[in-house]
Amino acid sequence: MKKYISLGLFASAAFIMSSCSKDPQSPGYEFMPDMYRAVGYEGYGPNKNYEDGTNARTPVDGTIPFQTNRDNIMNVFPYPHPNTPEGYEASALMKNPIPFSEAVLAEGKTIYTNFCVHCHGANGQGDGGAGKKQAILIPPAYNSDQLKDLPEGKIFHSITWGKNAMGAHQYQISKVDRWKLVHYVQSLQKAGS
Ligand code: HEC
Repeated sequence: MKKYISLGLFASAAFIMSSCSKDPQSPGYEFMPDMYRAVGYEGYGPNKNYEDGTNARTPVDGTIPFQTNRDNIMNVFPYPHPNTPEGYEASALMKNPIPFSEAVLAEGKTIYTNFCVHCHGANGQGDGGAGKKQAILIPPAYNSDQLKDLPEGKIFHSITWGKNAMGAHQYQISKVDRWKLVHYVQSLQKAGS
């Protein structure tokens, strides 16, 4: 009896698993043809299934652009501290990921000369040309009591978001360059001490 049952099972398995087609190349019955024969969509091509008629989608919040250049990876990560008093305080804990070197300092100086000198002045004394026209643009000296102990994280935060009359610089200066700039600002904080 057992023999007949197993023979029966074998026969039905063979029946189920065999192809219905006479063509040996045919895969037989396709269970989900959509999956085997998907429609190919071009990344920026048209697509009537979307309201705006295109395949290009806006990336979801927090998406980080693909980056193959390892040196630039830092630049594409979002900055975590918001432009709020709490964000400013939290930024104080950040440490400069770019090690100090004379070359980095020289790069920082170039960036400073391009973006900061007209308000902060060549030596960071707050005597740039802009303040002579608009008193509101006169910043305290970096080596003043107010700023000489400003932690590097807060320097970075203020360059990133700006502060009062000073505008944000995160869109003009990459993160890596802003950290190089922090080294240069620190050298001006120490000036004369
Ligand atoms: C348009 C003029 C202007 C430019 C350009 C400018 N700053 Fe400022 N900066 C100011 C003023 C004004 C303040 C004082 C803000 C305050 O405390 O009210 C200031 C403050 C700062 C502070 C102190 C921030 C703090 O947390 O107290 C730092 C550091 C600083 N600037 C760095 C820079 C660097 C680096 C650049 C170049 C990328 C730059 N600034 C460009 C006007 C400017």
